Amino acid sequence: MSLFRKKDEPVAIIPDAEGMSVKSAIETRRSTRKYLDKAVPKDLIEEVLDAGRMAPSGGNSQTTRFIVITKRDVLEDLNKIVKDEFSKMSVKPGMYLPKVNAIMQSKAGTFRYDYHTPVLIVLANKKDYGNAMADSSCAAMNMLLRANELNMGACWVNQLHWLTDTDQLTKYMQKLGLEEDETITASVAFGYPDTKDGLPNRIPSRRKGNPVNWVE
Ligand SMILES: Cc1cc2nc3c(=O)[nH]c(=O)nc-3n(C[C@H](O)[C@H](O)[C@H](O)COP(=O)(O)O)c2cc1C
Repeated sequence: MSLFRKKDEPVAIIPDAEGMSVKSAIETRRSTRKYLDKAVPKDLIEEVLDAGRMAPSGGNSQTTRFIVITKRDVLEDLNKIVKDEFSKMSVKPGMYLPKVNAIMQSKAGTFRYDYHTPVLIVLANKKDYGNAMADSSCAAMNMLLRANELNMGACWVNQLHWLTDTDQLTKYMQKLGLEEDETITASVAFGYPDTKDGLPNRIPSRRKGNPVNWVE
């Protein structure tokens, strides 16, 4: 049965934990933007990583690289680079709103693109590969869903992708394993959600777009 029983208002389902169906994982996945300051065991990170690495890829190329960062100093350095780069930019008419926020908050010194996540998985792919974004998106999506299944919080954070052409970020990321012929395609924050019950928010959000045309 469709999630949308009445118009586009989704019906809230609170599923059980690991072992939930793919349908439940999809319908209840939400972005987590508040994390506990608590280290995530490596085997749990590997579960999510495996989900990303198992994603399909065009021509089975498997060129998406995963750079897993748990080192606090590195996460802080990346935040400084992000703030520094956005604070050099100016807001332009018609600019994508999240970018406007990034610029304004960076200039004010308050921007924290990664929500203090304890784990950041940066995805990269070949610069000259036509399916780079598509493949990395499949990988990121798999990781978001697996995180939900594991009762963990996750959020796609896109700022490193936006800044992938800046020298400062490129040089820094190359020290962490980014190859010269690669570009940052996405990144995923991952950690224990800072909520009352310790579970991620799973209330499906209303659909205001994603129109469907049936041709029958
Ligand atoms: C390509 C892409 C980029 C995104 N970038 C960010 C981001 O930089 N920061 C953020 O907090 N959320 C980001 N998100 C998460 C979206 O804001 C979120 O999925 C959307 O608001 C719907 O909310 P939900 O994930 O809770 O269903 C991104 C999602 C996608 C697919």
